Amino acid sequence: MAKAAPVFELDRVSFSYEGGYPALRDVTMQVAAGESLVLLGANGSGKSTLLKILGGLLFAQRGLVRAFGVHLTPTTLAREDFRRRFRRAVGLMFQNSESQLFTTSVWDEVAFGPVQLGLPEEAVAARVADCLRLVGLAGLENRSPHRLSGGEKKKLALAAVLAVNPAVLLLDEPTGGLDPRSQRFVVELLRRLRRSGRTIVTATHHLDIVPEIADRVLVFGEDHRLLAGGTPREVLQDRDLLLAVNLVSEHYHVHAHEGHDHGHYHCHRHGH
Ligand SMILES: Nc1ncnc2c1ncn2[C@@H]1O[C@H](COP(=O)(O)OP(=O)(O)O)[C@@H](O)[C@H]1O
Ligand SMILES: [Mg+2]
Repeated sequence: MAKAAPVFELDRVSFSYEGGYPALRDVTMQVAAGESLVLLGANGSGKSTLLKILGGLLFAQRGLVRAFGVHLTPTTLAREDFRRRFRRAVGLMFQNSESQLFTTSVWDEVAFGPVQLGLPEEAVAARVADCLRLVGLAGLENRSPHRLSGGEKKKLALAAVLAVNPAVLLLDEPTGGLDPRSQRFVVELLRRLRRSGRTIVTATHHLDIVPEIADRVLVFGEDHRLLAGGTPREVLQDRDLLLAVNLVSEHYHVHAHEGHDHGHYHCHRHGH
């Protein structure tokens, strides 16, 4: 059997926002099926823009994007069969949960996707219950999403994405703005998702979570270019690179202890 096509292939992709604000320059990369990829970069480097391109919400102005071997363009996404397959397969969690949540109750928010999929009522209810339990929001079914805390909103947005059970998860700053306990909760969840065989692309600038959630890391510079890639260890030990892309300050240092399978970073929390 032929090797499975990459989930995403980008060839020299550039994107600027209206008014000529560049967000991505000449990005060439692939995402393999089943891998857990982290996009690292300082604020403004283009991570969210890239995730929106992978999610079919924005389109490359230069270069080519393929998803499942199909060019991702407004034209192909207008094709009913491909759009359905794509929306079913790829779930995007926005950086700002406020702009993702749109219903009047926690239950409705999570049920929306499964209802769209045409699942029978009982299956929808079961899925909503499962996903709310998974993110730790069971019991809040009737609450208005707007009356949740920032962390709870993030968890709800994640539950809504997971309820569609997509093979590909695009997660934009999943631990951004969370208190330490919620951060740990979400990281543990991401670790479980990673082991579930899904393809996961996570944008973050939290270096300390990278070894736990990534098979591979791509590093974006403040000039909106893809500058480097490697294993979490390779990238996190490259102090000059991290300094150059404004991900660490002068004080950053790495101390890798022998006998451990990953380096210890001075910002690393130990959850075990
Ligand atoms: N809606 C927008 N209009 C104009 N410029 C934008 C918009 N969204 C993002 N940008 C700009 O595009 C660049 C990349 O932004 P973004 O993809 O959000 O980066 P990141 O997610 O890495 O912080 C930044 O310079 C940002 O200011
Ligand atoms: Mg962003």
